[in-house]
Amino acid sequence: MLIVYESKTGFTKRYADMLAAKTGLRVFRVKELSRITQDEEVIFLGWMKAGKIQGLDKLRKYNIKAVCGSGTGRTAEPDTETVAARNKIKGIPFFYLRGGCFPLRELKGTDKIMLSMFLKMLKSRKDKDERLEEAITIIENGFDGVKEENLEPVLEWLKTK
Ligand SMILES: Cc1cc2nc3c(=O)[nH]c(=O)nc-3n(C[C@H](O)[C@H](O)[C@H](O)COP(=O)(O)O)c2cc1C
Repeated sequence: MLIVYESKTGFTKRYADMLAAKTGLRVFRVKELSRITQDEEVIFLGWMKAGKIQGLDKLRKYNIKAVCGSGTGRTAEPDTETVAARNKIKGIPFFYLRGGCFPLRELKGTDKIMLSMFLKMLKSRKDKDERLEEAITIIENGFDGVKEENLEPVLEWLKTK
């Protein structure tokens, strides 16, 4: 088993490195895929963009045994089932890892545009609950949700392998 990850701003990378340190498994970025063979078992970690796990499509021909998605929500949004269906990973164990983000003003390019539009949409909602208020604060001010304990379910699953 080895670890492959895709990370844009470093939060998912921290989980990948933490997992490597805890398990002794080798860790690769998606960019380094040519260094591994397609039959090697892979645990994949990717950041989530509008519900889509980034980098995963590049591994479709690889031997993926588990997938982790990192996002800023408290839990996978809208829910684990939908994420599994949208990312075509039904039947493969999926683990949600709470990642983090930098404040919106520090972002650039299309990510900034996408999140600005999302923020505007959230702010315009009349039915704001606590989770929604939290999402607004996170986008505006940034957030770091990376914690070792979040990897526990992944480590438990690995013990069964
Ligand atoms: C354009 C954009 C879209 C995002 N969409 C989602 C999303 O759908 N669900 C979610 O939980 N997080 C979403 N996020 C937050 C990132 O997935 C989260 O910050 C992640 O931990 C970043 O990982 P990285 O630092 O490894 O790139 C989005 C971030 C950006 C910039």
